[in-house]
Amino acid sequence: MDIAPENVLHSKIFNDTLRKWQCSNTELSPHNLMLPLFISESDDAIEEISSLPEVCRFGVNRIREFLEPIVKLGLQSVLLFGVTNKSKKDEIASFADAPENPVIRVIPLLKTWFPNLTVACDVCLCPYASHGHCGILTADNIIEPKASRKRLAEVACSYAKAGADIIAPSDMMDGRIKEIKSQLAELGLISRVCVLSYSAKFQSNFYGPFRDAADSGAKFGDRRCYQLPCGSKGLALSAVKRDVREGCDLLMVKPAMPYLDIIKQTKEEYPEIPLFAYQVSGEYAMLYHGAKSGVFELKSALKESLTGIRRAGADCIITYYSPKILKWFQKMPQIFKTLSADDE
Ligand code: PBG
Repeated sequence: MDIAPENVLHSKIFNDTLRKWQCSNTELSPHNLMLPLFISESDDAIEEISSLPEVCRFGVNRIREFLEPIVKLGLQSVLLFGVTNKSKKDEIASFADAPENPVIRVIPLLKTWFPNLTVACDVCLCPYASHGHCGILTADNIIEPKASRKRLAEVACSYAKAGADIIAPSDMMDGRIKEIKSQLAELGLISRVCVLSYSAKFQSNFYGPFRDAADSGAKFGDRRCYQLPCGSKGLALSAVKRDVREGCDLLMVKPAMPYLDIIKQTKEEYPEIPLFAYQVSGEYAMLYHGAKSGVFELKSALKESLTGIRRAGADCIITYYSPKILKWFQKMPQIFKTLSADDE
């Protein structure tokens, strides 16, 4: 006779191994983490960012000393953002691919110092454009799609030529993946460089500290016409599908925590494509300040949030907490240093 489901007795045994089996695919190893880095145009600078406590912008001459111990701890990939001051900004973001751009200068150095480090570069016009928008604007301040994707592809190719392994367009302009891919192909770079598309990027309150860190806020208007509205699930899926059709190699959902269902939806639709989730600046700051004011303990709240992001389906989490997490791994006795929800 069958037992009615409400009468089925599950064991209540608690042991670590059983517990780990119950959490499969939510472990976190060093390869599941990518660290965003802000590269300052002042070569000798280490600049604190008040809205992102304990995160700094580093000049080209200071980045090696910062990264060396973290790479030793197992860091495997970084995402570079260039930062420049107002005087270098113009309508077409000329400095984005100028030879003096700190990202272009730092890529070959990183590859020499850390040959096994995977280097991704964010591609966007906003940090270098006088108007602070992610594309090229018409005289009436409307996004000009064709000029925008041409310019973004030029910038992407300049980072690829400098030696980046991954190009990560974060602008959300239509058709930019196709344009980037075809320009990469013309340069013969297609097989050496991956395109990681910020495919499902939502307009979000959680980017505030980043705009301060990269000085990339829009000087007028906002990004509503090109970033996804918070409630849009179907539109997020079409944006992802479009990018896959155009040939992107890696997908991203951003921010992470408020969009776990979008992570799940994306992974279910494309299980074969590595999926990135960006735990953005506002999520970092929220966890930081929550812990500082005693709402929770940072380590366990962070573990819970990262486990949730992995459980939803992310293969790699882009997080400013990567150095801290790698330090925790080091203190753990296991040979395979993984972090699961219950490890202390
Ligand atoms: C640039 C870009 C942004 C972020 C990454 N690339 C800001 C934005 O879209 O306004 C946000 C990252 C973060 O908040 O940590 N387009």
